Amino acid sequence: MTAGDIYRALHRRSLEDREGFWLEQTWAIDWARRPTRALDDSRAPFYRWFPDGELNTCHNALDRHVDSGRGAQAALIYDSPVTGQKITYSYAELRDRVAELAGAIAALDVGKGDRVLIYMPMIAEAAMAMLACARLGAVHSVVFGGFAAKELASRIDDCQPKLIMAASCGIEPGRIVAYKPMLDSAVEQAKHKVAKVLMLQRPQGEAAMIDGRDVDWASFVPGKPKAACVTVKSTDPLYILYTSGTTGQPKGVVRDNGGYCVALKWSMPNLYGVKTGEVWWCASDVGWVVGHSYIVYGPLIHGATTILYEGKPVGTPDAGAFWRVIAEHGAVALFTAPTAFRAIKKEDPEGKFVRQYDLSKFRTLFLAGERGDPPTIDWAQKLLGVPVVDHWWQTETGWPICGNFQGIDPMPVKLGSTAIPAPGWQIEVLDEKGERVKANEIGALVAKLPMPPGALPTLWNADERYRQAYLAEYPGYYKTGDAGFIDEDGYVSVMTRVDDVINVAGHRLSTGQMEEVLGAHPDVAECAVIGVADELKGQLPLGFLVLKSGVNRPYPEIVSEVVAMVRDRIGPVAAFKSAVVVARLPKTRSGKILRGTMQKIADSQTYNVPATIDDPAILGEIGEALKPAGYAR
Ligand code: COA
Ligand code: AMP
Repeated sequence: MTAGDIYRALHRRSLEDREGFWLEQTWAIDWARRPTRALDDSRAPFYRWFPDGELNTCHNALDRHVDSGRGAQAALIYDSPVTGQKITYSYAELRDRVAELAGAIAALDVGKGDRVLIYMPMIAEAAMAMLACARLGAVHSVVFGGFAAKELASRIDDCQPKLIMAASCGIEPGRIVAYKPMLDSAVEQAKHKVAKVLMLQRPQGEAAMIDGRDVDWASFVPGKPKAACVTVKSTDPLYILYTSGTTGQPKGVVRDNGGYCVALKWSMPNLYGVKTGEVWWCASDVGWVVGHSYIVYGPLIHGATTILYEGKPVGTPDAGAFWRVIAEHGAVALFTAPTAFRAIKKEDPEGKFVRQYDLSKFRTLFLAGERGDPPTIDWAQKLLGVPVVDHWWQTETGWPICGNFQGIDPMPVKLGSTAIPAPGWQIEVLDEKGERVKANEIGALVAKLPMPPGALPTLWNADERYRQAYLAEYPGYYKTGDAGFIDEDGYVSVMTRVDDVINVAGHRLSTGQMEEVLGAHPDVAECAVIGVADELKGQLPLGFLVLKSGVNRPYPEIVSEVVAMVRDRIGPVAAFKSAVVVARLPKTRSGKILRGTMQKIADSQTYNVPATIDDPAILGEIGEALKPAGYAR
């Protein structure tokens, strides 16, 4: 037997005996009605999991642990270096707080199937808000705090929430981010009218309330009768999470209840190697899928202790912050994005801070969200002396597509690879004709349908968009939007996106969406945005502006206006800070902008002049325009 044989046999079974494999996994979850069938393919290519199952996800995350006698165990540790607070909630306390909050939002007329938008920073109440919705069978949609009002408004219009749960401010190092003005502006901009806002006032930045609409959390919630868990169908939606797509309109990824619970519960011990009762830390944000799955639902469904951290890897207060949290709470594993480690490495290349802390309980570091560059993984591995596991997933998939299964059969780590597919995932690499390529050849990464439980069943109110965006190009497959290769051992490496998505500090953004903003500037005739390589954030957006004829204002003025527009319309998280003015954009003869070639020029890589280019001389002009900005060297 060699490392991986046990896991590979399990993976084979998950594909060959799908019903048997997944029905077995349902025993790890409490059901109001245990499913008798795993997959419903009657509406293929729309698949659903455990169609006759009924359950409640909040019950599985909280009540079942209290009922089984572990109410005193820590469920959630809120650790906030930006406010100096540390609060531990036991399972019994968290269940009671969530049940009371659910009672409060029920009193605001929220019930099964209603949507609730959550706009909150990394505080324990954000997790409570999500779980309170789950308790009532309501559908939450969390919006990341770094998005601006317009983004919030488009999500309000798409999911049409009955209630918004919000906090007055977020805290970024060195500044308080007032959420309430952005929220008020979003509600104002949205066509859908929101009746009530449940507002948590934070002492760091209290907000003015709007009479008749805003309800004060601190005076309204306490003492409300505790709400019981409402049974929902396995296939009912638990949440909608918006993510960047190929157009400016974000896609509302739908997550079900039953399939998600089963997949997350399977992943905690088997992929992450975490036992019930152990302390686990995922340093992401509840606004992203990683936060939904592995700050809130996964660890709680598994009965682990989850750390919710309101801080950064550096600067809160120093590059030892991560080691402090791991040591202080006894975390056995950490999940974060490579960019966090690049930030730590930049400040503390020799790892002096790590030696100040006792990391003896720490077993594994998991990285995802962007390509794990080999130098960073190598540095982390040497520094920590534990396996560094890169794994691949997306908002759409809800849990990992590929990984190295620490709880079953750890396999050798190959730098730059995300290892092998998780159960139920059949990953292939296809060429432009839709044919499978040989080992080690790059192509489009696709998943053979059906995808396993936990993956998106569709987009919110947009079946056709789901089909077009993900299923149409390669019939019988889900298109991941990533390109990469599979080596002779079956290890999958994810190299780049094939669409307009860029990955900035582990945050997924659409360049097409930024182009829409730039194009709205009155002086801009045409524009393009590409992602250029950045040592810290992996990629950074860079804009190209072609001005309308007759515009003779100073270029820096126009550039700073478009930078402000992106910050205002998309949000600071877009990290859009640079643009250059050019005379024209390189295009194919059919008029398609050659963004890929522009990116290679900006990154000073060698490139082939595309055969279809209209006028090759433009490429030289682009290079010259980029040099003063520090690119194309
Ligand atoms: N609310 C409001 N603003 C936010 C925000 C939030 N929740 N999160 C980020 N922002 C702001 C930042 O303050 C920054 O603003 P600035 O332009 O005024 O400086 C801007 O959005 C860009 O943020 P970011 O790209 O995250 O850069 P940063 O310099 O603040 O931090 C890292 C860089 C690497 C430390 C940080 O990105 C990080 O910790 N990443 C970890 C990875 C992660 O969480 N990934 C999520 C998916 S796993
Ligand atoms: P998100 O939907 O925000 O989780 O972003 C998903 C995208 O991030 C994927 O489609 C990939 O492009 C990228 N990604 C996530 N994990 C990895 C990884 N381990 N290696 C390379 N890219 C990754």
